[in-house]
Amino acid sequence: MSNAKTRVLTGITTSGTPHLGNYVGAIKPAIEASQDPNVEPFYFLADYHALIKCQDPKRVQQSRLEIAATWLALGLDTDNAVFYRQSDIPEIPELMWMLSCVCAKGLMNRAHAYKAAVADNEEAGNQDADKGVTMGLFGYPVLMAADILMFNAHKVPVGRDQIQHIEMARDIAGRFNHLYKGNYFVQPEAVVDEKTEVLKGLDGRKMSKSYDNTIPLFAPEKKLQKLVRKIKTNSLEPGEPKDPDTCTLFQIYAAFANTEEAAAMREQYAAGIGWGDAKNQVFDYLNTHLQAPRERYSALLEDPGHIENVLQQGAERAREEATRTIEALRAAMGLGRFS
Ligand code: TRP
Repeated sequence: MSNAKTRVLTGITTSGTPHLGNYVGAIKPAIEASQDPNVEPFYFLADYHALIKCQDPKRVQQSRLEIAATWLALGLDTDNAVFYRQSDIPEIPELMWMLSCVCAKGLMNRAHAYKAAVADNEEAGNQDADKGVTMGLFGYPVLMAADILMFNAHKVPVGRDQIQHIEMARDIAGRFNHLYKGNYFVQPEAVVDEKTEVLKGLDGRKMSKSYDNTIPLFAPEKKLQKLVRKIKTNSLEPGEPKDPDTCTLFQIYAAFANTEEAAAMREQYAAGIGWGDAKNQVFDYLNTHLQAPRERYSALLEDPGHIENVLQQGAERAREEATRTIEALRAAMGLGRFS
């Protein structure tokens, strides 16, 4: 593979159903990047990460299928992008172990997710500050470092909450390079898209599966309509001017619409459009734009064998590189062949 290109890598934890916020914040920019000939994208289903927070096998399995189908339905170019499942690359957990042996435990003590779990325990007055904390949760950033360092990614698009993990990956990479005296790993950089954090959910808080306020990207038409009607607005009457900048409904619309369409909607807000009318317009717009990918999505879900093939091909491409890399790392660490 040529190295003049920028290698962009990101993982999607497979523990839920993709929603509009995921689309705007992560999927859409990633798919656009997959069409850029100067980018070498590595996109994967972080299904080992899913096991940390979800121990319901049906849900993990379903989510993997839905997320893969979503990316394909939205036009991911899998000729350019290497699209794979983390669990199809056994070299990744192997690398995780190698990295665990150079990673300071103290670094993991500072990870946000772990610290939040400890803080919750302390607040609840639990004797054991680590109650409910698995080694998976504690070592989560090392697995993520392995995902990234395995493929020497330059750029890692993530949400703001993940920046710390990229910094940890850099730290671990630096330590490994220093200890084993070589340039084994590239230092990855986090890329945070401004839009990632801003899309709000039905209740006006950040759209997130943890708040249960999401609009599933491929909700059937009727359901989509129902959810759009549920978006929280204020009590202003038709005829009263409304502020688009503090309005979740407008924000969702603007995330999909082009500049002119958004400007036209702003004018309607200023002119006092009624909430019912605004919601109908937003629903119609979303529904029209999501219809074709939704149909492709349904067709893909009916054909899991096809999805499996696509992912197997991606795994093959990823492993071609991963097996070479891991062999060099084994040798560097004193685990090389005898002859
Ligand atoms: N932890 C990331 C999240 O929850 C998902 C992820 C796993 C990831 N491995 C990664 C993202 C590697 C970027 C790079 O969003």
